[in-house]
Amino acid sequence: MAEEYDVVIIGGGPGGYAAALYGAAAGLNIAMVEKDKVGGTCLHRGCIPAKELLETAHVFRTVAGAKEFGVQAEQPSLDFSATMDRKAKVIDGLFKGLQGLLKARKVTTLDGTGTLGRGNTVTVTGAAGSTTEVTGRHVVLAAGSVPRTIPGFDVDSRYVFTSDEVFEMTSVPGRVAVIGGGAIGCEFASMLSDLGSEVTVLEALPQALPGVDKDVVDQVLRSFKRRGINVRTGVKVTGHEPGDGGTVVAFGENDSVTVDAVVVSVGRRPLSDSLGLGDTGVKVDDRGFVDVDQYCRTTVDGVFAVGDVVATPGLAHVGFAEAILVIKQILGEPAAPVDYGRVPWCIYSHPEVAFAGYSEQGAKDAGFDVVISKHRWMGNSRGLIIGETEGLMKVIAEKGADGQAGRILGVHMAGPWVTEQLGQGYLAVNWEATVEEVAQFIQPHPSLSENFGETILSLTGRGLHG
Ligand code: NAI
Repeated sequence: MAEEYDVVIIGGGPGGYAAALYGAAAGLNIAMVEKDKVGGTCLHRGCIPAKELLETAHVFRTVAGAKEFGVQAEQPSLDFSATMDRKAKVIDGLFKGLQGLLKARKVTTLDGTGTLGRGNTVTVTGAAGSTTEVTGRHVVLAAGSVPRTIPGFDVDSRYVFTSDEVFEMTSVPGRVAVIGGGAIGCEFASMLSDLGSEVTVLEALPQALPGVDKDVVDQVLRSFKRRGINVRTGVKVTGHEPGDGGTVVAFGENDSVTVDAVVVSVGRRPLSDSLGLGDTGVKVDDRGFVDVDQYCRTTVDGVFAVGDVVATPGLAHVGFAEAILVIKQILGEPAAPVDYGRVPWCIYSHPEVAFAGYSEQGAKDAGFDVVISKHRWMGNSRGLIIGETEGLMKVIAEKGADGQAGRILGVHMAGPWVTEQLGQGYLAVNWEATVEEVAQFIQPHPSLSENFGETILSLTGRGLHG
């Protein structure tokens, strides 16, 4: 007899482990199947290693700029093995912490690849080929995603890398081509440039960071340009040819760049093919995403899907939110669908990018009449104190019948620590607050958060400093 659980989860990344931890905290009996390590892409090959290495880039930049503060420090150099050791230590600490949490909440972790059968049966195939069957009153599919690749760029970890391999590099490449100027591409471009690489970004669309407010993108590109990062947009890459001095990446009309490494960051594809969904009745779309409704319910009763395996924003925190939504339904509690248009987005490049809600163009496309306000960091005392004045704060509000700014539709930022500052903007957008309401709130002085307060205040028609 297959062992029976309240919930069987396939995949131990953020979507899967959040469902396990939240469900177990509510007393559900849970089994989670994982073929590699719990923590998934986010912990082992994504968010955590990327932000950890970006922090090394930050420290490097800070030391290199210490003289400006009157601090005499030697020009820094990089001991990359120590950098990678620190990254491994951070991941290991979080990995052990997660294992401890799962154990403490009595989640059964099953090692192997999980495939769904009929009747909510999940077969777990171990590395050596052994199989076990478990059944769940409910099943959550959380198999995640893998980097997409493109023809002409076979991943070999010699010249061509995706985000899966970059984190295992043993040295910083001298010259790098980053293919794809999305979130991953811009984070890698920023980090590698700060660590000393000469970086070229090759983006197929007319604008890097598609989907991000144009004013914010311009700020990032201005900074990239100043630091020598060459961003080429609207170009098609055709392949690469290794030779004596690196590899030659061909793009556009007879253009090329010679580099030591190519990082392919052209999006991710869902890993639904490993779930054995064939005759289960769980529908998968033509791109491989598991079909779900707004409650993350698949086409089979009792089977849910969350995280990167569904066609919602590929963000760990969206996976967390979907996991909570699913567990609440399993518990029979009221549950509100995730409002995907207003989730927080954070890109940890230098300068950082953070936003929630409509961009200016997005709001106009959706039919809103808008009032906007933008403030730079040059006038912000804390920004000047820390020596970080690149970027801007932008608030998009709905224009009322009186022509004045009303409900806050979007908050978009580039600049110092904006990923940590988004909270207020996120709340304002999701609370559907008006500028008059938010203008009542006091910001500490001197602080970076004053720039948000100042931008809101100016939308009431009267600003203080700008
Ligand atoms: P993406 O979809 O954000 O960006 C991929 C970029 O590659 C796009 O700009 C696209 O136009 C371009 N592209 C596609 N094919 C191309 C080609 N043949 N040549 C040149 N350019 C091409 O995907 P990305 O950056 O790989 O990220 C994957 C997922 O991970 C996304 O869902 C992203 O939101 C998420 N992510 C989020 C992060 C964050 O929020 N900080 C960080 C890293 C990833």
